[in-house]
Amino acid sequence: MPNSFTHVFEPGTDPSAPPLFLLHGTGGNEHDLLRLGRTLSPGSALLSPRGQVSERGANRFFARLAEGVFDPAEVTRRTHELADWLVATTKKYPLDPARLTAVGFSNGANIAATLLQLRPESLGAAVLLRPMVVLDQPAAPGSLAGKRALLLNGNTDPIVPLDHPPRLAAHLRAGGADVTQQFFPASHNLTQADITAAQDWLGS
Ligand code: MLT
Repeated sequence: MPNSFTHVFEPGTDPSAPPLFLLHGTGGNEHDLLRLGRTLSPGSALLSPRGQVSERGANRFFARLAEGVFDPAEVTRRTHELADWLVATTKKYPLDPARLTAVGFSNGANIAATLLQLRPESLGAAVLLRPMVVLDQPAAPGSLAGKRALLLNGNTDPIVPLDHPPRLAAHLRAGGADVTQQFFPASHNLTQADITAAQDWLGS
């Protein structure tokens, strides 16, 4: 059995709603995005793990060397650990990985993106809220064919450089993903515009 993640699982009530894989930001936990998940897609099953890295007590999904500075080997190792756990966990509940839609915020959006880049079979789609480029490499050609991603960023975000979202979009499109990328007049925190755009995209 792969390394286990503390998590919450809420069964779905609407079989037509995609199961959501909720990935919190730095300092969050497995409860943080449950309300967001219910708001974005009422009736979806919700699977929400807690990141296993502690940065002075703040939970994360991979360590960082400094704000915005990452070690590709660490990110790769943590991405595979989460993907291996997901393989076992989607069988246990069970959830269809082809319909599983990640909803990640900040550090959670970043590991959702690296899952798409390194383990494309683990997700069907992803809503990336305030993502940045963590692994500067294109997805393998064809690896993301038939998958969708929504990237939502703020154009006054002090954490995510403005060139990162279009670069990440290009890395995912290289794998064949259908990517929608949008900027809002916002900072790193989510706004109502993010919620509305994510709801519309999930419903489309
Ligand atoms: C964060 O504060 O979590 C950053 O925005 C993203 C990261 O370090 O992965």
